[in-house]
Amino acid sequence: MDAKQLRGYLEFYRDLGFTTLYKRAPGNAHGPQESTEPRPSATGSAVAQSAVLPGILAGPDVMLPSLAPENDTLERIREDIGDCKRCRLHTGRQKIVFGTGDPEAKLVFVGEGPGADEDTQGVPFVGRAGQLLTQMIENTASREGIPLVRKDVYICNVVKCRPPENRTPEPDEMEICGQFLFRQLMVIRPKAICVLGSTAVRALLGRKEGVTRMRGNWYKWRDIPVMVTYHPSYLLRPYNQNAKREAWEDMKKVLHFVYD
Ligand code: URA
Repeated sequence: MDAKQLRGYLEFYRDLGFTTLYKRAPGNAHGPQESTEPRPSATGSAVAQSAVLPGILAGPDVMLPSLAPENDTLERIREDIGDCKRCRLHTGRQKIVFGTGDPEAKLVFVGEGPGADEDTQGVPFVGRAGQLLTQMIENTASREGIPLVRKDVYICNVVKCRPPENRTPEPDEMEICGQFLFRQLMVIRPKAICVLGSTAVRALLGRKEGVTRMRGNWYKWRDIPVMVTYHPSYLLRPYNQNAKREAWEDMKKVLHFVYD
């Protein structure tokens, strides 16, 4: 394994919240048996855990698990998700909501998780919040003279199954599903990512600050610029009209950055 591959693996695990890797004991082909090291969860809090990694860094010829296969594709990621039962969210879902749009999009929007309409149709952002997002993309683009419609971007969520009663996804659900989101982003490699709301901020930037403080600014996920803005559901509340104006400003900024 060369240094570039190794770096890729380390970044991959860091994004999943792993901060500690263990040396494989000589003769033990399956890696560490236990560890009491704490590690940050997707929300940044420390959680005690044991038997952290199925593979470990032991030397130059070490085998690491292939979580992000070489020559990955969106089709392969969808196949790997399969009829997923990795977390409790599968029990209430109708459809897995993988993502939609141009697989070579220059801009990716990341939301929180499917709602009722998305769960029924298997497509992200098709309910009221989705219609607002579509309007924001298309109306801002049209007003700014940028030829862009919804199908030209890619839209997906942190978790692919609808949380019950639309509750916020739990840290373990985000961590499990997050590996597929990271793979989607690595395959698409957009010029920018626009994260919608605090769950997506936490999943991609590992930060817990409020969106109000972070919005309108650029951050990075790996080497990809990330714009933070409000989740469209938040903008639908009648008392958030000021936020709506700010979200439009954020959209303008990100569209010009990507398409100028
Ligand atoms: N809210 C989200 O975060 N994602 C969707 O797909 C729909 C609503």
